[in-house]
Amino acid sequence: MTNLFKKDFPILGDDRYIYFDNAATSQRPRQVTEAVRRFNDETNSNPLRGLYQWSVEATDRYEAARHRVAGFIGAKHDEEIIFTRNSTESLNLIAYSWALDNLTEGDRIVITVLEHHSDILPWQMVSKKTGAVLDYIECDEKGGISDGEIEKKIVPGTKLVCCMEVSNVLGCRLPVEKITSRAHNVGAVTVVDAAQSVPHRPVNVRALGADFLVFSGHKLMAPMGIGVLYAKLSLLENMTPFLRGGEMIESVTRYGAVWAPLPQRFEAGTVNAAGAVGLAAAIDYLEDIGFDTVREREEKLVSLLLDGIRSVPHAEFYGSDDPKDHGGIAAFNIKGCHPHDVASILDTENICIRAGHHCAQPLHDHLGLQSTARASVYFYNDESEAERFIEALKKVRGWLGYGD
Ligand SMILES: Cc1ncc(COP(=O)(O)O)c(C=O)c1O
Repeated sequence: MTNLFKKDFPILGDDRYIYFDNAATSQRPRQVTEAVRRFNDETNSNPLRGLYQWSVEATDRYEAARHRVAGFIGAKHDEEIIFTRNSTESLNLIAYSWALDNLTEGDRIVITVLEHHSDILPWQMVSKKTGAVLDYIECDEKGGISDGEIEKKIVPGTKLVCCMEVSNVLGCRLPVEKITSRAHNVGAVTVVDAAQSVPHRPVNVRALGADFLVFSGHKLMAPMGIGVLYAKLSLLENMTPFLRGGEMIESVTRYGAVWAPLPQRFEAGTVNAAGAVGLAAAIDYLEDIGFDTVREREEKLVSLLLDGIRSVPHAEFYGSDDPKDHGGIAAFNIKGCHPHDVASILDTENICIRAGHHCAQPLHDHLGLQSTARASVYFYNDESEAERFIEALKKVRGWLGYGD
């Protein structure tokens, strides 16, 4: 597997580090940092406010980034793209601006047990404040969700259904289309958390049946601090703002205000324009490589990781046996070794992985696990790294004093 990509990533340049924590955040190629630098060096000024050229240019670049994102995920209108800080903020925006105003006692909110805490806690809050019932679609031990479970949980009275597209622990893809279609049949609104899918596979909001969809720029090579909320225009038009202040109003009197048109109504305060420009550059970079290449490389690498973990005494991985259904993620444990110890021992060999519950405690509880170690790859990783990782893994039990 020739690695044509590493040269674009200064942080990976000298091959000292093996970065296998891509599900937490990805690395940034020069093309992205360069686009951010150009924004800052050429036109930095507060967009949407100034009447001078720099500000007009900053606004143009910011709005061009919105247009790029809309095209990337198949949104019909640029106004359906709201820039936020990350997936977490996008989900909270939905909770505060839509759910609190539209749900009432006895309504059902249905989410899956695989969700990230960011797609659980806002709904717990909404449930407590409105009296809506929060219920879970369960999964089997590989992350699979049956049609029967979907039909059993998404029943008349369900007003909101939220599901991730790809699990950040098991890497499996959830049956999003079946879930959203059933949700629409009973009149519910759908939220898709695409944080772990947008960097790895083509995502189209209409094909997914997403009324709302969220993702974070930093997981697809954009800077931290820029995220996306997609929302259908018909929903956004009837929502109240989440944050209030500058930039999101048309006019203000002492005791009232008229909101700005969409999308500014939901982007209060000075925006992260450089971040949005970086996100557009990251999308350009990703599409130049192509999702076929991304998936092919990830599947090959995950296949090596899963085979390698199988070959390590007392190690087991979680999720599907099929590397194609791992979204670049291999979660595992080595018997007798705490995942934190595994991660610390790998760190002594400059291998970066994640250990813990990965913000998915209900899923870990459901699987009877306290925590897991997680290696997650992206297209810029390669076979030699997978081999070094497996060799290091074989030494872990020895480090901890086991004789085998
Ligand atoms: C599936 C999923 N949803 C939401 C999030 C939250 O993303 P952020 O921390 O960028 O808000 C993550 C982060 O790991 C995730 O994996």
